[in-house]
Amino acid sequence: MFEKLEEYPVDPIMIGADYFAQDPRRDKLNLTVGIYQDQDGQTPVLRAVKEAERRLVETQMTKSYLALTGDAEYCAVLGQEILGAAFGADWVAAQTSGGAVALRVMADLLAQMPEPPNVWLQTPTYGNYVPILSAAGARFAAVPYYDPIARQITFDQMLAGLNAARPGDVFLMQGVCHNPTGADMTPEQFAALLDLLEARGIIPWIDLAYLGFAQGFDADCAMARQVAARFAECIVCVTLSKSFGIYRDRAGALFVKTRQADRARMHRAVSAIVRARVPCPRSRPIRGAYHPAGSDVKGALAAGTGPDARPRGTGAYRYRRDRTE
Ligand SMILES: Cc1ncc(COP(=O)(O)O)c(C=O)c1O
Repeated sequence: MFEKLEEYPVDPIMIGADYFAQDPRRDKLNLTVGIYQDQDGQTPVLRAVKEAERRLVETQMTKSYLALTGDAEYCAVLGQEILGAAFGADWVAAQTSGGAVALRVMADLLAQMPEPPNVWLQTPTYGNYVPILSAAGARFAAVPYYDPIARQITFDQMLAGLNAARPGDVFLMQGVCHNPTGADMTPEQFAALLDLLEARGIIPWIDLAYLGFAQGFDADCAMARQVAARFAECIVCVTLSKSFGIYRDRAGALFVKTRQADRARMHRAVSAIVRARVPCPRSRPIRGAYHPAGSDVKGALAAGTGPDARPRGTGAYRYRRDRTE
């Protein structure tokens, strides 16, 4: 039977990683997967993460199932940390296995809507958006974002491209440290973009992957907070893989802001998609998702107040950020 299996494309990032592993030179640089490494090429576990793991082992009293949308306290802490005062009862939240699953759940949801919206992407952008949207069967199109020769954001072309969007379409952008260009919009550009999205009835979808790596955790949340405060409907996907260096533990979340009349339906839709399509968080590795959630551990990681933790933007955060620049 398996002789009928079709050839699947190999992930280009993994091809690059193989080349890197085979290259004997000592002064090589790995520009493939976005993983922090120290001067010895190691990806260390932060002390606060170790402490969180220790506390989890000591304090966890049950291994019972979680809700389909995961740990509500984790979602609440994370939502408040990232979106600040703009986060509240008007959001539907789900704990997900990393950022990729948050993106996939949303892609499924959009694809299943009676009149599926077009998801507008930036070109270039994170290489997994197209595979995720395609696998979900979502509709998507792209607008230019960055000119690699001129090394600048093609802002006017991006806005011009969005003129083709219809009300109810979705614009997927990154909140900070744009992957792969590293070029973030200026506050003025971002304000102009939000004006256009609002005027045209386009729903903003912000993907946050590198919080803490641009100017510090709070400052890096600024774009997402503006969107959250201004729009009645918006989407925020988060991965904590990079911020806490917990890549394999798969910690992430999906936040969807809806009008009140739609909220319970949205919660049921997200739950149904998680149950039917993406086996998270019931079968996800539990530890990563719990790092920022468990009692004082959320202080250590999310608020920076726990043992061994330092205020955000200092210590481990700033050290890794400075080395990454
Ligand atoms: C922009 C962006 N979004 C989402 C992700 C997915 O994160 P995760 O590894 O937690 O699935 C990444 C990972 O590189 C990313 O760069």
